[in-house]
Amino acid sequence: MDNELKVPNHIAIILDGNGRWAKKRNMPRGYGHIVGCDNLEKMCDVIKDMGVKYLTVYAFSTENWKRPKEEVDGIMNLLRDYLKDAENFKDENIKVRFLGDRTPLADDIKALMLKNEDGSKDATGLNLNIAINYGGRDEIVHAVKKIIAAGIPETDITEQLISDNLYTAGMPDPDFIIRPSGEYRTSNYLLWQSAYAEYWFSDILWPDFTPKQLDKAIEDFNHRNRRFGGV
Ligand code: FPP
Repeated sequence: MDNELKVPNHIAIILDGNGRWAKKRNMPRGYGHIVGCDNLEKMCDVIKDMGVKYLTVYAFSTENWKRPKEEVDGIMNLLRDYLKDAENFKDENIKVRFLGDRTPLADDIKALMLKNEDGSKDATGLNLNIAINYGGRDEIVHAVKKIIAAGIPETDITEQLISDNLYTAGMPDPDFIIRPSGEYRTSNYLLWQSAYAEYWFSDILWPDFTPKQLDKAIEDFNHRNRRFGGV
């Protein structure tokens, strides 16, 4: 990448196209998720080395439970495998956190999430957020419930208060959201936080997404004129 380019502070990626990638190879959809997960590990290192401070990836949405049980189980098993060595993130200086409602997840997965979060909490490199059972609308509903349960009066309701009650509390909003696979939707991803994010779409399916595409995306990001509602 051109050293003159500024890297976004917070990149968010929708890991899309795994199923189609597998289908093109006459393989089961689950194989696409396995290769997609491998690619996430590779891209995570590249993104960390670029000096990006936050990376948020959409691994499982609140709507993904509608998929066949075999596929859902496959993704959950991938997650187990990804988290089984809780030292990994710490060793890589990655601080991992999970965004989403953990209630319906299996107990062992919930325990692995906590172990990985706790084990990597002092890491100073990349902040990696993995959205699991995450939905932007669901997140806002949870925030509203928390605010009401805390008895906060109407006069104290501010944008900052809502931000502080989201799963991303205390984190900067994403600057740049990448969606591969030729879909041009936001799919309930970071609805509140994406208010001023720049989007980048590509036809490449996630398992084929390479550091070269990321460089191209960041180059485009550098040509965006971000006015945040100003002139
Ligand atoms: C969307 O592609 C992808 C998902 C719903 C799952 C993404 C999961 C991973 C990359 C692996 C799990 C991640 C971790 C961190 C363990 P799609 O299947 O909807 O693709 P399609 O649109 O081609 O069908």
